[in-house]
Amino acid sequence: MWWYQKINVISTLLLLTASLCHNKLTCKEGESGPSHESMQAVFDLQAFRPVVNLSNPTVTNISFTLYAVLGVNEKTQILTTFLWLRLYWHHEFLVWDPSKCDGVSRISLPVKKLWSPDIIIYEFVDDDVSQACPYVYVNHTGHIRWDRMLRLVSACNLEIFSFPFDVQNCTFTFGSYMHTIRDVRVSPALTFKEMSGNSKRYLEASGEWELVDIMGETSILKFGIDEWDIITFWVVIKRRPVLYVVNLLIPSSFLMLIDILSFYLPPHSVDRASFKMTLILGYTVFLLIMNDLLPSTANGTPIIGIYFSVCLALMVISLLETVIITNVLHNNSMKHHQVPHWVKVVVLKHIANLICYHWQENSQPSSVNGEKTPEAPGPIIQSESKTLAENPISNEGTAAMAELQQICQHLSELRAHLSSMQKENTQQEEWCHVGYVLDFLLFRIYLLLITCYALVIISMWCIWISPS
Ligand SMILES: *[C@@H]1O[C@H](CO)[C@@H](O)[C@H](O)[C@H]1NC(C)=O
Ligand SMILES: *[C@@H]1O[C@H](CO)[C@@H](O)[C@H](O)[C@H]1NC(C)=O
Ligand SMILES: *[C@@H]1O[C@H](CO)[C@@H](O)[C@H](O)[C@H]1NC(C)=O
Repeated sequence: MWWYQKINVISTLLLLTASLCHNKLTCKEGESGPSHESMQAVFDLQAFRPVVNLSNPTVTNISFTLYAVLGVNEKTQILTTFLWLRLYWHHEFLVWDPSKCDGVSRISLPVKKLWSPDIIIYEFVDDDVSQACPYVYVNHTGHIRWDRMLRLVSACNLEIFSFPFDVQNCTFTFGSYMHTIRDVRVSPALTFKEMSGNSKRYLEASGEWELVDIMGETSILKFGIDEWDIITFWVVIKRRPVLYVVNLLIPSSFLMLIDILSFYLPPHSVDRASFKMTLILGYTVFLLIMNDLLPSTANGTPIIGIYFSVCLALMVISLLETVIITNVLHNNSMKHHQVPHWVKVVVLKHIANLICYHWQENSQPSSVNGEKTPEAPGPIIQSESKTLAENPISNEGTAAMAELQQICQHLSELRAHLSSMQKENTQQEEWCHVGYVLDFLLFRIYLLLITCYALVIISMWCIWISPS
């Protein structure tokens, strides 16, 4: 029976060569589509690139739709996306005539049985855990279409300086890993604009990231004497900042606002200092929570982190100011220091004029007058008492005189005490005014500082938001 087997083998070989000579699959009467034997013959050629003349490269057309942005890891500089990838190539042996094959013009075949181009993405840095798609569609003209889903974990240089208003530009480079430009060529199947449009349509409802654009370029990669054909796609995505604005910027701004408003608490009570202390404590807690939300990389911190640090520094400065003012108000007035003359001139005159601080200056002269007017009767009484003492009328008279003198002495002591108290009061009042003027001045400076800072930050963020 060996000859029968031999004949069988020879006949299949003949069939194969015949079909290869015509570059066509055969169809049998009464069967739909190309005959299984002729297709099996093509499957046996799986190892070889499906071209008749090996000088012709196989052109692979590539298109993809960005379906989802699954995650961005700033620390490891990895972008995880989900793509619908579509590859087209031409198989010169899978050609048949539909009119002879019961009108079948398209069949599906397992991709493992056919030669397929080794298209890779150069940025891919992880295991491929995508769902497998084992079949391809084959056109009667030999055009193969292979759709697959790809969970792409790609290395990307992520810039987080302008977080949360950052725009990331990641590169996907498609090309054959092994085959040089003489064997496999790649080209885009759709225009970059169409791909961008498709991706925008499908990505619309997904997550924190918004697709800005997909751009691309075909180029030739040279490495030694070999050349590879590659397509480079630039996927530009933009973060939706609403979450971070609501969770980070607005609470922080509120705390800063309360800090500014706390300057309207009276500076001579201790309340203000403790209030500011509490604010700083609250801000610290806020910073701790925020630390989880902020991205961090080894090569830089986002400017929002610097913004928070500066806010904390401003709060500390405002607490320091309160401490200084409280010191001026309490300590100096308690030690009964006179307000030094230069302080009076500089603070109460020039600075008060500068910041338009007015107070009723009448109180000062009136108190001085009040101090001076009672002094006038003093010597009179004394002189009177002297003249009385010089007139020896009687013993009772001298006794009464002595008593009167004592009363007089007490009265003058009382007067001295009262006047010293009054002086102290005016001193305290003066210190109060010095404190208020300084408080006003420092508050203005603080406001100016915060305004400049806010302007710089807001204009920076506006610049970052505007280009798109
Ligand atoms: C293959 O194609 C090249 C140019 O495309 C041509 O020069 C060569 O003769 C062809 N070889 C055969 C065997 O047809
Ligand atoms: C690939 O695209 C080129 C045009 O860019 C086209 O001429 C060619 O027929 C396409 N090949 C396949 C297999 O679709
Ligand atoms: C077969 O391939 C050709 C060339 O790419 C294309 O124009 C045609 O629409 C395809 N037909 C089917 C049924 O896919």
